[in-house]
Order: sequence, then structure tokens, then C-alpha cells
Amino acid sequence: MRTGPLAIFKDDLLKGHTAVVTGGGSGICRGIARAFALLGADVCITSRKQAVLDEAAAAISAETGRAILAVAADVRDPDAVIKVVTAARERFGAVDTLVNGAAGNFLAPAAALSPNGFKTVVDIDLVGSFHAAKAAFEPLRLSGNGLLINVTATLHYHGTPLQLHASAAKAGVDAMTRNLAVEWGQFGIRVNSIAPGPIGDTEGMRRLAPGNAAELAKKGIPLGRFGTIDEIAAAAVYLRSPAAAYITGTVLVVDGGQCVSLPMFGV
Ligand code: NAP
Ligand code: COA
Repeated sequence: MRTGPLAIFKDDLLKGHTAVVTGGGSGICRGIARAFALLGADVCITSRKQAVLDEAAAAISAETGRAILAVAADVRDPDAVIKVVTAARERFGAVDTLVNGAAGNFLAPAAALSPNGFKTVVDIDLVGSFHAAKAAFEPLRLSGNGLLINVTATLHYHGTPLQLHASAAKAGVDAMTRNLAVEWGQFGIRVNSIAPGPIGDTEGMRRLAPGNAAELAKKGIPLGRFGTIDEIAAAAVYLRSPAAAYITGTVLVVDGGQCVSLPMFGV
């Protein structure tokens, strides 16, 4: 049932629509896949773990009645990502939206971060997003109403400690958003980022704000709480809706005001 932020959208807003969601088996991107399906879309979800995808696909399909295709791939492997997009096209006949959400992260001081640790996160978040965007270009072009959403972050707006690797990767993804918006506008493809702030009940928050760090983090958020998965999903649905038809090359920040807030004298 559509409740909360998703309740405002009209039934069947995305009927006849198809989307590929990387990272769609868990967390925020599972929420995006579910929201698209609730509104009538057929969705292909992908990540590395087939069992996780199968569980998510069964749950979303049972709730929404939509077809949810689950195809495992590592976004670092361009051929595997092409196979995902091909499978989605074969099953659904088209791909209208790609959501790049697959990502990896951990806390690590830059001086202790190994070259492979840095490279791994950049390879998943940035290079993987490029692989998926490139694989989806042709179906997005054929859609005539293609949309690419890159799920980024706000880490790189400042020098976020212990987050050099993810900040560099997400800064690159936001650069890609702008570039592809310029290059692909002529093909009717819009390209935008969604930058979530801290979102409750996610792997990202479990990794980046362990223990009482989560409660402390709330003090730096003007709205005084974490966001919800449905609030990010609603942002994705909005970008997909006709209401956003003239929006491309931008970053939609959904963070309760966290990134524009500076503590005064440490308070
Ligand atoms: P999550 O549930 O761990 O989502 C990450 C997804 O990426 C998982 O489904 C994971 O599935 C997949 N993945 C990881 N490496 C992959 C690879 N090499 N190839 C394919 N798939 C891969 O975490 P989340 O917190 O919901 O984060 C979702 C997105 O939101 C990420 O882009 C993250 O940077 C962004 N974000 C989150 C927050 C937050 O507060 N949580 C804040 C800002 C931005 P497998 O393990 O099955 O591969
Ligand atoms: N601190 C420092 N370095 C770390 C680390 C940590 N907590 N976790 C992994 N690394 C380093 C590893 O040591 C390795 O470098 P090395 O070869 O120099 O030792 C490198 O990162 C790759 O690690 P590996 O475990 O082989 O990578 P992977 O491809 O199997 O997994 C990760 C990718 C590391 C990002 C893993 O945490 C993951 O799969 N995450 C997905 C879920 C996630 O992060 N969700 C939150 C999204 S915001």
C-alpha cells in the first residue's frame, strides 16, 4: 500500500514503464524499485548477490503485482552489466529509466586507506555507474523519454573525514550527471543525481554512523531526524514524473538541510 511520501502520486503513474535499478536488492534502491512497481512499472533489479535479489523481487512482486526481474551482476564488469540491460529489454521490450544505486563504502582514514581500498570504491560507484549508463544508452534513447538517476551523496560538498574514497567517487558521479545531461539531452534523455543525506535503517548508516554516532549526527540536521527510504523513493518518482520533464543535469539533495548547516562554535 502506498503510504507516507508515496501516497501523493496518482495510481498507474508509471504504467507501461520499465526501469533497471542497480543496487535494487537492498536499502534505498530496493525502496526505489518498490515505489516504481507500486506505481505500475516493471523493474529489473541487479547487484552481485542473486539470493538477495530473488528475495527482494519476490517481495516486491507479491506486494505490487508487477514483474520484477532479478539479474545478478557486478557493475565493475561492463559485459555483465550489458547482459542485465539486454535481459531487461528482452523481458520488458524497453528500458525507460536507469537508476545507478550500486555502491560500496566503509570508514577509513585516508592515510591508512590502501590503493585497492580507494580503487574498489571508485570502481563500484563511479566506474560501475559509467558502465551501466553506457549499457543503457541505446534503450534510453529509443524510449524517447529516457531518464538516468545517479544516487550520489553530499559527502564531497565538504571535506568529510574518513570518506576520501566515497567522496571522490560520488563527486565523479555528479560530474558524470552534468556531462551526460549535456551530451544526451539531444536524445531525449534526462540525467539527474539524487543526493540523500543520512537515511535511517540502511546499510550506509550502519556502516558510516555506528553506535551512538547516529544519534549525534541528528544534531547536525536542521530537521532533526534521519530521512526515510520512501522519501528518497519519492524523489526518484518525482524525477520520473511529467512534473520533472524540464529537469536535467541537476542534483536533488534530500538531506533535511544537513549539507547547508554549519555548527556554530561546535554547538
Ligand atoms: P546498500 O543497501 O548496501 O546498497 C548498496 C547496493 O549496492 C547493495 O544492494 C549491493 O548489493 C550493491 N552493490 C555493492 N557493490 C556492488 C557491485 N560491485 N556490483 C553490483 N552491485 C553492488 O546501501 P544503501 O545505504 O541503501 O545505499 C544505497 C545508495 O545510496 C548508495 O549509492 C549510497 O552511496 C547512497 N547513499 C546512501 C546514504 C544512506 O544514508 N544510506 C546516504 C547517501 C547516499 P550486493 O551486495 O548484492 O552487490
Ligand atoms: N577499511 C579499510 N579498507 C577496507 C575496508 C575497511 N572497512 N573494507 C574493505 N577495504 C579494502 C580491502 O582491504 C581491500 O583492499 P586491499 O586489497 O588493499 O586489502 C579493498 O578494500 C577491497 O576489499 P574487498 O573486500 O576485496 O572488496 P569487495 O569488492 O569484496 O567489496 C566493499 C567491496 C569493500 C565496498 C564491501 O564493503 C561491499 O561489498 N560493500 C557493499 C555494501 C555497502 O558498502 N553498502 C553501503 C553503501 S553506502
